[in-house]
Amino acid sequence: MTLSQNDQKKLLAVKAASFVEYGMLLGLGTGSTVDIFISTLGEKFGSLKDLEIVPTSLDSAHKASKLGIKVLEPKMDLKPDLLIDGADEVASDLSMIKGGGGALLWEKIVAQNSKKRIYMADSTKLVRELGHFLLPIEVVLFGHEWTHNDLKKTFSFVSIRRTVAGEIFKTNSGNVIYDCQITDGIEIGVLDTDLCQIPGVITSGLFYDFIDVLLTVQNENIIEICEPKDVFW
Ligand code: 5RP
Repeated sequence: MTLSQNDQKKLLAVKAASFVEYGMLLGLGTGSTVDIFISTLGEKFGSLKDLEIVPTSLDSAHKASKLGIKVLEPKMDLKPDLLIDGADEVASDLSMIKGGGGALLWEKIVAQNSKKRIYMADSTKLVRELGHFLLPIEVVLFGHEWTHNDLKKTFSFVSIRRTVAGEIFKTNSGNVIYDCQITDGIEIGVLDTDLCQIPGVITSGLFYDFIDVLLTVQNENIIEICEPKDVFW
């Protein structure tokens, strides 16, 4: 029997919660897997009022504070001990696409400043090479149509993200997102650096070399992956 995606997310959330100890400052990711993780923390610790987090989105901040978790702003001498976050796609070299929920910029800033980073990815997210999921790129609102033209020089398909109501989607920092198709021949290792040469680009949802521990599921078992040599897909 194979587990449903949601059951896998529950398993992953329970495992991720086992890494959390009282007194830790937690970087809190964004997305449906993280939402399950937040409820799992409640089951593990009972009261959450002594937990402190730095959020990666207003959505996560809101959900955490509703549960009584203390939400802290990023500060110079305040580095999360542990970041727990989800992923949209993870390749066999452990490069990753994030930003399906639009939180890529804050997710990357918090990840960059966390002492240890754990990502949860159910088996539907595992791929040989990135590119099934469109790569989100966060772009400054000013001149974004010109930036769109620049992105078209690199990607075969580029589309501005919209809300269900058809409005242009705005990130928590007031920027827009272009979802882009990675195609063969694009060198993943230098892509982020290359994209940041375009003046309107803030960052991309390409997370290269960010994973300390990847939690995933194989045959109903949780697998912990720390290096590409442990990859089974
Ligand atoms: C949000 C993200 C999420 O981590 C990613 O979209 C995974 O979400 P989910 O757990 O709902 O599958 O990058 O910007």
